[in-house]
Amino acid sequence: MQLQGKSLLSLKELSNQEIYGLLDRAARVKREKKEGRRNQRLAGYTLAMIFEKLSTRTRSAFESAFGEEGGHPVFLGSNDIHLGKKESIEDTARVFGGMFDILAFRGFAQETAEKLALYSKIPVINALTDDYHPTQVLADLQTMQEEFGKLEGLKLCFVGDGTDNVARSLMIACGKLGMDCSIAAPASFQPDSTVMQEVTPLFGSHANLTVTHDLAKACDGAHVIYTDVWVSMGQEDHAAQKELVLKPYQVNDAVMALSGRKESIFLHCLPAVKEKEVTAAVFEGPQSRVWPEAENRKHTIKAVILALLGLS
Ligand code: CP
Ligand code: NVA
Repeated sequence: MQLQGKSLLSLKELSNQEIYGLLDRAARVKREKKEGRRNQRLAGYTLAMIFEKLSTRTRSAFESAFGEEGGHPVFLGSNDIHLGKKESIEDTARVFGGMFDILAFRGFAQETAEKLALYSKIPVINALTDDYHPTQVLADLQTMQEEFGKLEGLKLCFVGDGTDNVARSLMIACGKLGMDCSIAAPASFQPDSTVMQEVTPLFGSHANLTVTHDLAKACDGAHVIYTDVWVSMGQEDHAAQKELVLKPYQVNDAVMALSGRKESIFLHCLPAVKEKEVTAAVFEGPQSRVWPEAENRKHTIKAVILALLGLS
């Protein structure tokens, strides 16, 4: 696996083997952490974290992973720097490229992440944009691997807003790894033709992608039932309309039962709005794996940082 010097902008840039390589590395750093082994692999390294949107898990995962390895993360919120306001993204990127070793970006436009990578010439990690959330999905894959011991051949069903950034990244991952993926969403919140053209070829003939309004069909046989908030960051003006249309797609006990599998699990990238997209009963119930999933954000992010910096 040779990811040194590359950026992680969407997950599309990674091969199947590179994803598995990152998951192996994530399992290793998780083991090290559990065994209390402390390393200083990032001593002398600096990370710039440009965050235009709020974050609990992603910010904490980056800062704690980078800091505990001896590195210095620098958090730069929208109100701290000139990015895109008084100074162009290209100019900020060139300045940061000369000062930092690696950069994480969370924000609105995917184009900003791409410009930062192009002009900084250092590895850039997409920490969530309107379009993608690749580091989230790596943690989801680690959680599924821990649960089922494999990924290929599993079926994941995403329920709710099919236009969601996490849903799009999950489709990419499933296609690349030979997992069946179904999206259960009302017609007005199904992935558009641009997204379908992007993800469909990844499935080839080895796995199926299904987009349907039919919850029973989508959930049938699913090992994983996944949902995300109905109102993503930046969509607050459309909250009432989205909540009304997505209401029938709440993940509740009846929806979990549609999988027909006793061993199926529930995942959610978090933060969750309980009694909206998921009931408290499912969220807190025996099938929920949301806490290991949240913890795995840190291990997978550490694995990505080490790989992009060419460190062991
Ligand atoms: N899942 C996730 O990205 O969480 P935060 O928004 O809290 O970072
Ligand atoms: N779709 C959500 C994910 C949050 C982690 C958002 O973009 O707000």
